[in-house]
Amino acid sequence: MTTKPKILVFAGSAREASLNKKLARAAARVVDENGGEATFIDLRDFPMPIYEGDLEAREGMPPFARKLRDLFVSHPAFLIVSPENNGTIPSLLKNTIDWLSRDVDGRSGLEPYRGKIIGLMSASPGAFGGVVCLTHLRHSLSKLLAHVIPDQFPLPKADQAFAEDGSLLQSWQQKSVLTVVRQLIETTSRLAP
Ligand SMILES: Cc1cc2nc3c(=O)[nH]c(=O)nc-3n(C[C@H](O)[C@H](O)[C@H](O)COP(=O)(O)O)c2cc1C
Repeated sequence: MTTKPKILVFAGSAREASLNKKLARAAARVVDENGGEATFIDLRDFPMPIYEGDLEAREGMPPFARKLRDLFVSHPAFLIVSPENNGTIPSLLKNTIDWLSRDVDGRSGLEPYRGKIIGLMSASPGAFGGVVCLTHLRHSLSKLLAHVIPDQFPLPKADQAFAEDGSLLQSWQQKSVLTVVRQLIETTSRLAP
């Protein structure tokens, strides 16, 4: 790939002061500084109802799910930064993944995921940074035929991790972000069509 790898960056939280959005924004800057091209989006801008089969049969895929689907399809790689809720994927992110995995207009529900290169991070005020959610996300996205890169970064004590300007305070945290971002960009350059 000769052009810069385009990476869709988003958090699994819509909360205004979301720690995961902060980490996603910081990581998006690192993408841009390291030869990638980040598109940062906020799931708050893509509201959709809870997936339900009767609603889908009646009304089809919701408008914002279609919009987001187009963005997924047009990016070869994603960086997903998600909170952990009760030891698993938060409902906002799971619902989004589920809606976008549905067939629409004769196109496969796998299209937004198949062959995509995906990096994972999480942020939590807790000691483990949401690492269990990353395992569950890895499993779900692999089932959708995405390539989830081996390195990942769960950021613990995330409520104490950021400076005023949104940058990470500690060098080991910055290094961990860089490791994931570099691997994501390199893998995307090698594997993405
Ligand atoms: C319903 C619920 C369940 C949670 N479960 C976990 C958990 O299993 N592991 C964890 O590290 N944090 C857990 N938390 C704390 C979240 O990590 C914390 O609220 C985090 O700041 C949410 O992400 P955000 O700041 O990006 O919105 C939970 C929070 C809520 C509201």
